[in-house]
Amino acid sequence: MSIWQDQHVTVVVSGGIASYKAIYLVRQLMKQGATVRVTMTAHATEFVTPLTFQTLTQQPVFSDEFTMQDPKHVGHVALADWTDLMIMVPATANLIAKVANGIADDAATTTILATTAPKYVVPAMNSHMYANPATQRNLAQLQTDGLQVLTPATGMLAEGYVGRGRMPEPDEIVDWLTQTLIDQQTDLPLHGKKVLVTAGGTREMIDPVRYISNRSSGKMGYAMATVARELGAEVTLISTPTALTQPAGVQYIEVLSAAELLTQVTAKFATTDMLVMAAAVSDYRPVKAVDQKIKKQPGQTGLTLELTETADILKQLAAQKTGQFVIGFAAETQHLLANAEKKLAEKKLDMLVANDVSQPGVGFNGDTNQVTLLTPNSTPVTTNLLSKTEIAHSVLTAAINRGA
Ligand SMILES: Cc1cc2nc3c(=O)[nH]c(=O)nc-3n(C[C@H](O)[C@H](O)[C@H](O)COP(=O)(O)O)c2cc1C
Repeated sequence: MSIWQDQHVTVVVSGGIASYKAIYLVRQLMKQGATVRVTMTAHATEFVTPLTFQTLTQQPVFSDEFTMQDPKHVGHVALADWTDLMIMVPATANLIAKVANGIADDAATTTILATTAPKYVVPAMNSHMYANPATQRNLAQLQTDGLQVLTPATGMLAEGYVGRGRMPEPDEIVDWLTQTLIDQQTDLPLHGKKVLVTAGGTREMIDPVRYISNRSSGKMGYAMATVARELGAEVTLISTPTALTQPAGVQYIEVLSAAELLTQVTAKFATTDMLVMAAAVSDYRPVKAVDQKIKKQPGQTGLTLELTETADILKQLAAQKTGQFVIGFAAETQHLLANAEKKLAEKKLDMLVANDVSQPGVGFNGDTNQVTLLTPNSTPVTTNLLSKTEIAHSVLTAAINRGA
């Protein structure tokens, strides 16, 4: 379930040129599962119409405090009390100044003053207005008063020059709010836990331009990192280069080879609560990576590449375990269960996620997977063919149920 489900979000729109972006933000928040209501300043209605927000949210827009409304409720108090989370976007220099000084002279500012919900502010203005000591003083006051302020982006302003003051894109704002919400929800099952996830296929260099790797896309590991974060964990993702977008709110470390992966995992392992080894680590690497590109020799046949074993990361970590919950992954093309049982025991894992990558829709590259979860002293459980996100949920739920 999304962290936004059942959240009552009040979006306060003030009269800045970026107010058109608030329309998309409202859409995105609703897509996440939030119920959104909008209050606007009179100047904001010069830029975008209440009708647009009313149609999108299917809720009345509160923009005129003194118009007759539902006689049973006082408009600003009803909206203020309904609100779980308030976001001022875009927040003009004027709105910021009013809020910093407790001014309540219209529908929007009165609602802001009347709500006890957490408040988020997205300033957007000309760079000189933003840098003005009065604005900076007001923003500092908002932070002192416990409001969260998002630093504006640097970029092309409506005035035609580059400066700091641009409103960040709505998707970035949703990410920012989501991460803050996750950290605030202390009842999430992985709240306070540090989860380390590895993903992607390692690259073992042959020469400066060639390497040995495998078909791993990183999708399963990225899904594990994303879901662990959604469940409240502080997540570090150690990944080889992939075509995927880095999950929001996750610390990202890039590695290439199995040796680099080992170094990074070892450095973090002692302070980790859960390790998810979803990376497809090469079992072998060239004995020597040559410094120069190997040239084609016309007529040459039988060129041999001498390989040697890479370090067995899970086996090495097993010796350093001090209570970490370690989840391994095994991709097999035959004798799935027998190989998986052996790996679970040999590497002292708390859980092994085994998949038969010879089956259609399973394992490498695709968006779906079907796995068998093995844990010590219990019967293996096989999931249905599910999306990798659903698989990640099943794996983490099983791990949490086993005390992770
Ligand atoms: C075309 C235009 C664009 C504006 N853009 C901004 C802006 O991006 N940020 C800002 O702080 N003020 C901007 N202003 C100035 C505000 O509209 C003005 O300060 C107004 O009093 C804000 O009222 P409100 O905070 O009650 O909405 C703009 C004004 C105009 C005419």
